Amino acid sequence: MSDSGRAASRTAVLVCQGRAAADGRIAADRFTDPVAVRLLSGAERVPVDEVRAGTVPEGWRARVAFESVRACAEVVAVRTPAIDEALRARPAGQLVILGAGLDTRAWRLPELARTRVWEVDHPASQQDKRARLAGIPELPAVARSVRFTPADLAVDDLGEVLDAAGHDASAATTWLWEGVVPYLTRDAVRTTVAALTARSAPDSTLVLNYQAPSARASAGRLLARVLGSSVTSGEPWRSLWPPKRMAELLAEYGLRVVSDDDLLTLARTAGTPARHRSSLRSGRVAVAAYHGG
Ligand SMILES: C[S@@+](CC[C@H](N)C(=O)[O-])C[C@H]1O[C@@H](n2cnc3c(N)ncnc32)[C@H](O)[C@@H]1O
Repeated sequence: MSDSGRAASRTAVLVCQGRAAADGRIAADRFTDPVAVRLLSGAERVPVDEVRAGTVPEGWRARVAFESVRACAEVVAVRTPAIDEALRARPAGQLVILGAGLDTRAWRLPELARTRVWEVDHPASQQDKRARLAGIPELPAVARSVRFTPADLAVDDLGEVLDAAGHDASAATTWLWEGVVPYLTRDAVRTTVAALTARSAPDSTLVLNYQAPSARASAGRLLARVLGSSVTSGEPWRSLWPPKRMAELLAEYGLRVVSDDDLLTLARTAGTPARHRSSLRSGRVAVAAYHGG
């Protein structure tokens, strides 16, 4: 396992702030994540509380943090429940979460009671999550087990790492890859798809969130950086995928796309707010089935 000396992911914290801000406020009938706020520090909760209260702060730095969390809340209130539903629809004994960040599913989805979970993440991000969890020992995992598995998907051999961590390649696995693909190069995405399908028994599933190219969404990220959002500056987007290209890549490795929807469509179907339309339009949730290579 490599450690490229990188800092813990700031975008993982932002997504967690988004979920904490959305909990019980946006799409309350479909989405709830009471665990997210517990993983945040006091300072990280400030913009969350402001968004929940609808109190716009003074000062540009606080305002950028507020707007980032508010926009993220709207996105995760659509993508998180869509993914939760996909996981509930395909229960498997094994769930591997790639680039898990501050994902809370192993602590909040009772449907995972019989599922062994592997959380794969960059070593620095994973260490940060473990430190946060250590501060809340009274928070039990609801999944059957959680195995923290550090790996840099751009460098390490995912197959070897999972093998060493006790993942069983002969049993079906649900693979979850949410909010990570844009941060990987095209080559790293391909290598990861190859590695996960090599460890996929028939009836395995990939639940994938990725970004399609969008001039407006990319311009929005650039603007956030110019305005001083240090959250995204250290984690540039490296690959955006038109749905057809993504489906072709997955098909090369025996994965058949069963559904692939943009978040704006999912938001409209669910009747959730859609103010940040360009972010929602370019974000996608796909489900792909593996029946053997
Ligand atoms: C935006 S966060 C998403 C976290 C989580 N999946 C979620 O949706 O809440 C991006 C995650 O990708 C991880 N990541 C980015 N590049 C990675 C790499 N090369 N190897 C492993 N994880 C990586 C980061 O550590 C971070 O946890």
